[in-house]
Amino acid sequence: MEDNTPIIEGRHLFKKYVLHQGDYYALNDVSISVQSGEYVAVTGHSGSGKSTLMNILGSIDAPTSGEILFEGISIKDYTEKQLAQLRNRSIGYVFQSFYLEPNYTVGKNVEMPLLIAGYDARERKKRIQAVLEQVGMEKHIHQKAYMLSGGEKQRVSIARALVCNPKLILADEPCGNLDSENTAIVMDIFHKLHQEQKTIILITHSNEDASQAERQIRMKDGKILS
Ligand SMILES: Nc1ncnc2c1ncn2[C@@H]1O[C@H](COP(=O)(O)OP(=O)(O)OP(=O)(O)O)[C@@H](O)[C@H]1O
Ligand SMILES: [Mg+2]
Repeated sequence: MEDNTPIIEGRHLFKKYVLHQGDYYALNDVSISVQSGEYVAVTGHSGSGKSTLMNILGSIDAPTSGEILFEGISIKDYTEKQLAQLRNRSIGYVFQSFYLEPNYTVGKNVEMPLLIAGYDARERKKRIQAVLEQVGMEKHIHQKAYMLSGGEKQRVSIARALVCNPKLILADEPCGNLDSENTAIVMDIFHKLHQEQKTIILITHSNEDASQAERQIRMKDGKILS
């Protein structure tokens, strides 16, 4: 029997901020469902709630109300330890600003999630090598991260996102700080990941990049436009 359980689902998500001027809803009743292997682009103007949605889907942030289901299981009552494990093993994050440790080598940056997950040294080495080859950064393994160009940094951050073999990749404007040449390299990596059946949710301001996804979701004022 075919399993149609979405890999991730958000049900009636609200995110409220209490401001001087009154309540502000960064998410205002958002429901979203993504199937395993889908490549989804999220677009919308600045402030429309894209990052808020992404962070809540990735359990980096909690909704004010509503529910997240990962592979059909609600994470509502997960302990902090269970959430940390979900983030470490099942989700890969890529951000506009890379968030690499500048004084660590490329290899060490990519190793961090593996250390958290508890892989042994031999398995860590094998996986680091494999993901760095996947993004064409294997020659830089011993280089300190601060020495890399923006495009190289983003390739390393993608390698780090992939190294625990996550089921879901969340990318928040991964090309936002890159020139067109490096954008093309990064988008090509996402295209190949999609061909390998990875599930990807990509936030982008670029219609051209969004058109590479299978499905586009447009946000406005904390809502998904249908
Ligand atoms: N901690 C906070 N307190 C108050 N308002 C917030 C907070 N965090 C986010 N917001 C507001 O929520 C709205 C949605 O923010 P979000 O970062 O999700 O937008 P975005 O669509 O990702 O925008 P961008 O394209 O600029 O990244 C914005 O208006 C923002 O100012
Ligand atoms: Mg954002």
